[in-house]
Amino acid sequence: MLAIQEDFARKNQSALPQQIGQAASILRNGGVVAFPTETVYGLGANALDAAAVAQIFEVKRRPRFDPLIVHVSDFQQAESLVANFPANARELARCFWSGPLTLVLPKSDQVPDIVTAGLSTVAVRMPDHPVALALIRAAGVPLAAPSANPFGYISPTTADHVREQFGNSIAWILDGGACKVGIESTVISFADDPPSLLRPGGLPLKDIERIAGPVKSLLKPQTAPLCPGQLPRHYAPRTPLVLWTVGGPNPSGGRTGLLSLKPPENKDGFSAVEVLSSTGDLREAAANLFAALRRLDALSLDIIMFQPVPEDGLGLAIMDRLLRASLGGVQKEGGT
Ligand code: TXA
Ligand code: MG
Repeated sequence: MLAIQEDFARKNQSALPQQIGQAASILRNGGVVAFPTETVYGLGANALDAAAVAQIFEVKRRPRFDPLIVHVSDFQQAESLVANFPANARELARCFWSGPLTLVLPKSDQVPDIVTAGLSTVAVRMPDHPVALALIRAAGVPLAAPSANPFGYISPTTADHVREQFGNSIAWILDGGACKVGIESTVISFADDPPSLLRPGGLPLKDIERIAGPVKSLLKPQTAPLCPGQLPRHYAPRTPLVLWTVGGPNPSGGRTGLLSLKPPENKDGFSAVEVLSSTGDLREAAANLFAALRRLDALSLDIIMFQPVPEDGLGLAIMDRLLRASLGGVQKEGGT
């Protein structure tokens, strides 16, 4: 656990079990609750109750054709959701659960269609967060939960992020401190053989391939050249976000923010600079990414520029999120 989570756990030790009990009872009664995971905060409802799940879509303003991840606290619960658990998927779960890995598997009849958007598969994961696991156990049911942000906006990595956006529209927000991974789970589909990567995330692909063998990537090419509009906009701040491949002083005349993996050599002309890691560490950068984007987005800047990060380890997921959050434009030289 990160220091911040340990600190949080010490301060809230006495109140938390009671809050988890209360949140669990809301869930059992068909309500929606926000809860922490190691990746991002989730907006959860009883996955076996179609009416409860429908509320998630309403609160989030999420299109109904986008399926949800079902969160479990043990293997038996995962088994009850799937019709078939292939050996390579089972081995991945054994190695990486609880953790930032979501497995897409053939679904059992137990799972309502609203959870899977009518697909014959269901996405399942066991989160690595003591509050999430305790909540699922106390509720006694698996929890369908997308990230707790309005559809298309930056995902939340603290309870305050959730409060800022959903304070009045959800029954309970469980505060479990800042998310230690900070970027959503890696999603691997076992609908076909070989398995395929649907979303890079908190578990690096090479760790998965070491256990399950080669994984097909269904992602669009993510490296330059990047055509505007090629990527569906997602995880996006309100301020325009642009990939900036050159570096140096601010090339645009306006109030510009810079999002940088490491301390930049030249900050001239930027109104605000967010550094994701003082040493360029990709894990630390992933953990800081969404909070840094939110801080820049709160400054009413004209534009936010980001510099590419190496696409290895968690860098693949960081670049995936930044490219989807951007307008798809690449800033190479002066002017915007
Ligand atoms: O880390 C995470 O995964 C977080 C936390 C809260 O667990 N959750 C999350 O959920 O990111 P969401 O709803 O924002 O993203 C779920 C992703 C979507 O890209 C969705 O299309 C995909 O999982 N997905 C869910 N069920 C699927 C299925 N049956 N087949 C293919 N993709 C699926
Ligand atoms: Mg999301």
